[in-house]
This record gives sequence, structure tokens and C-alpha cells, in this order.
Amino acid sequence: MTILSTDTSCDETSVAVTRGNIIISNVLWSQASMHSEYGGVFPSLAKRAHEEHIDWVIAKAIKKAFPSSQSTISHLLTTKIDAIAVTVGPGLAIALEVGINKAKELAQTYNKPLVPVNHVEGHLLSVLAKPNTPKSAHHTPLTTHHTLLFPAFSLVASGKHTDLILVKGIGEYEIIAHTIDDALGEALDKAARMLGLGYPGGAILEKFAKKGDTKKYALPTPLAGQKERMEFSYSGLKTAFYRLTEKVKKGKALSKKQIYDLAAVFQDTAFRHVENVVVEALNKYPDTKSFFFGGGVSANTKLRKRLRKICRKKDVELLVPYSKTLCTDNAGMIGVVAGYKLKKGEFLSPKNVNKIDREPRAKINYPFLT
Ligand code: KG4
Ligand code: ZN
Repeated sequence: MTILSTDTSCDETSVAVTRGNIIISNVLWSQASMHSEYGGVFPSLAKRAHEEHIDWVIAKAIKKAFPSSQSTISHLLTTKIDAIAVTVGPGLAIALEVGINKAKELAQTYNKPLVPVNHVEGHLLSVLAKPNTPKSAHHTPLTTHHTLLFPAFSLVASGKHTDLILVKGIGEYEIIAHTIDDALGEALDKAARMLGLGYPGGAILEKFAKKGDTKKYALPTPLAGQKERMEFSYSGLKTAFYRLTEKVKKGKALSKKQIYDLAAVFQDTAFRHVENVVVEALNKYPDTKSFFFGGGVSANTKLRKRLRKICRKKDVELLVPYSKTLCTDNAGMIGVVAGYKLKKGEFLSPKNVNKIDREPRAKINYPFLT
């Protein structure tokens, strides 16, 4: 089954063509630079930009997937695509709506089944995606309860989510820890902003942190000594970081060296909190076979390394997405989820597509099809 999927949950207009876990094309139009002056995503701007670009991104994803074909986009949709998938939540309501309306239109026009997908499940399963190589053409997607992988843990860490999820099998999830205030990516973005590094700041902060000294200053590790809480919290750290930055500044502009050190200290403290929760969870669930790490923050080399070290000690395999595009928002991961859902019969027929609507606050287990 070849699936065309779209994701317009935030500030990336993305469309992909996938087959099982294989990413055939994964195209995105990023609006990040448009939103940078607001220091976050501006919803009505996002909606308009999605509307302006979605047809172009769909055409590009299809052309990329079938490069030697001379056929029109419409003909390729009719003959080569078996199903349409779309992110219905969580995300920005008016942004989600653009992708949902387009997906409904495609499903009805081309008479294809429509698969509604949860964005967080997309990040969760992004680690199972495979590139489109001659070797992967013979690859059979994992079964939903593959004994070498499950039970697994998944950490989905992005600008909006910080969820540690117990994965009993594909489609069987239990949230073990979530953030009670800011998300990890959001905290990294805010820290980057305080240092004048722009938005979104996670990746820039990582670069600056590499040159800094993690021991130069001290910040309190969130929820230190409160193992039993199994929660994430970044808002107190953000306030402590603001105070520290002001103290270091002494009313002047920060030097390069000070920015490097502050970035290193913030990142190190934020990641130590992640480690503490992950270690506790792995202690509580000793049967864990693998650890999935997805979402924008999973692009961070340092945090990957630190999680890999923890996992190695517990004989747990760490899985991360095979490319950075698959870490941040993209439609490829939505296609991977849809591949499993189609097999399980979790889709709508073209005449029933209006049964789904945007679900901006949907949690991982939200039932879109009831
Ligand atoms: O998954 P994503 O694209 O969007 C959401 O669903 O939120 O994640 C975006 C987040 C931003 O907070 C961004 O700063 C962070 O992922 N991010 C990173 C890195 N690349 C992106 N954080 C740390 N290190 C990175 N290399
Ligand atoms: Zn996301």
C-alpha cells in the first residue's frame, strides 16, 4: 500500500509518500523563519502559509516519489496512491484544519481510504522509518508486537511535548511521565532566546553548548531527589536561568564565552532531568527491550549520547530516526503510523471522511474513529 500523508500541525507544511515503513519522499515547506520575529508560532500566519503552499508541497512529494513518470499529478494520485493519511491532532487547530480539509478532498476526489493519525504517535514511530534503498525494498515492516523490540519506552521530546511512553506494542501506549509545565524543546527555545540566539533555538543552543563549560555555573536540576514523581518540569529551570543570565550580564552584553558557558550549563541541567526520569522508568520496568527517542529534540547529539549510555547499561537498544528531517515535524512519520493503521482497518471510507475533525489536544491514545 502506498500512502500519501500530510502534516500541518504547526509551522511545517509537510507531505510524504510512504510504503510500509519506507519513506519514498518526505517534503516540507518550513515557515520557521516567518515566525521567528514572534519568538513562537503565530497561528493565523501558519494557517495562511499552509493554505498557500499545500498544493505545491503535495505535487513536489508525488513528483519526487515517481521521478521517471511523465504522468500528471492527478493521474499519479489515481494510479499510484492507495490511501491518504493526515494528522488530526494534537497541534494548532486552524493549522491542522488545512491539512485535514485537503486530505478529505483528496480522499473523496480520488476515492481513497482516509487514515487519521496522531502527531505524537508519528514522532513515536518515526524511529522505525527506513530510507528508500534497494535493500529496504525487501524489508517487511515490523509486526506490532515484535518480541525483540517490545515492551519499549518512547521519549517524545519536541517544542510542545515531553512524554515518556510505555509502548507495549504498536498502538498500545501508556504515558508514564509528561511535563507539568513547559516542554523540553520549548525550554531550550526560551533559553536560546534569553541568550539572543533566535528561534527555534534548540539546534543553535546545541552548537553553542559544545564550546562551553558545563561546570562554569550551577543551576538546580528540576525535581532533583523526587524520584517518585515521574514528571518533567522545566518552568522553574527557565526562571533560574533567567536570574543566572542577568547575574552574569551585570547590565552589560554577554561575551561569546559567557554565552557558550550559559548554553552548556542550561543544556546539561535540562538533560540531567531527562536522564533522572528515564533511569527511574527503566528501573521500574526491567523488561524493557528498546528505547525510542523521537521529536525535534531527538536531533540533539548530546542527549542521544547520554541516553545511549543509560540504555547500554540496561541492555536496552536505543532507536533514533535515521535522519534529522524525521526528528522534527514531517509527514513521513505520519505515513509510517498510517501503514500500521491501514493494516488494522483503522481508516474511513471516502464517503465517511467527514466523521473526523481536528483534535488540537488529542493525547496519544485518543480514539479518532469512534
Ligand atoms: O518536533 P518538532 O519539529 O515540533 C513540535 O512538535 O514541537 O520540534 C521542534 C523542537 C523545537 O523546540 C526545537 O528547538 C527542537 O525541537 N530542536 C532541538 C534540536 N533541533 C530541534 N532541540 C535540541 N537540539 C536540536 N538539535
Ligand atoms: Zn511535532
